[in-house]
Amino acid sequence: MTKTVGLIVGSLRKGSFTRAVAEQMAAQLPEGFEVKKIDISKLDLYNQDLDDEGRVPASWTEFREAMKTVDAVIFATPEFNRSVPGALKNALDVGSRPYGASVWDKKPAIILSVSPGAISGFGANHHLRQSLVFLNMPTIQQPELYIGNVTELLDDDLKITNEGTIKFLGSAMVTFADFINRLS
Ligand code: FNR
Repeated sequence: MTKTVGLIVGSLRKGSFTRAVAEQMAAQLPEGFEVKKIDISKLDLYNQDLDDEGRVPASWTEFREAMKTVDAVIFATPEFNRSVPGALKNALDVGSRPYGASVWDKKPAIILSVSPGAISGFGANHHLRQSLVFLNMPTIQQPELYIGNVTELLDDDLKITNEGTIKFLGSAMVTFADFINRLS
């Protein structure tokens, strides 16, 4: 049976380098896997009162329902001030509640960080990893996916030009697919 991998991108920017790299990576998942892009840009900010008082915004419900249909998650994040963008953290928070009904629990995950800078979003990558530990998501440890100096790897249409990078990301998807299969 085909497995569905959710793709969550932490950048909301139209010309996002992170999304460009993530989509070209996810497209290399092997046969038997399909990618579902999960939009986090319209999510209302998390406020526990809304859950407690039954005033759940439609954006949360749609997101939580969409996440229930995925078997695993690719998180692709840029780095904002050495951490993840607020939009991505908000998505983690919305999905984690109400208490006991987290959409993340036990879902295999992989983290990709992307930056025009040389440090490759390392800070964001590891802050995200810390949240995924608490959210009980088995997160693949190797290969680590840090894509730095990203503008040197993309052409004007945001296509990856470097063969080595394409192959590296493709092999990561094969490893991730195997990881998902072993856990399910
Ligand atoms: C950044 N940027 C950035 N880059 C980085 O490597 N480390 C950082 O800590 C930050 N901090 C940061 C904060 C804020 C608020 C912005 C808007 C940007 C630069 C960032 O990597 C760059 O804008 C990327 O192009 C963002 O990713 P997308 O949108 O291209 O995917």
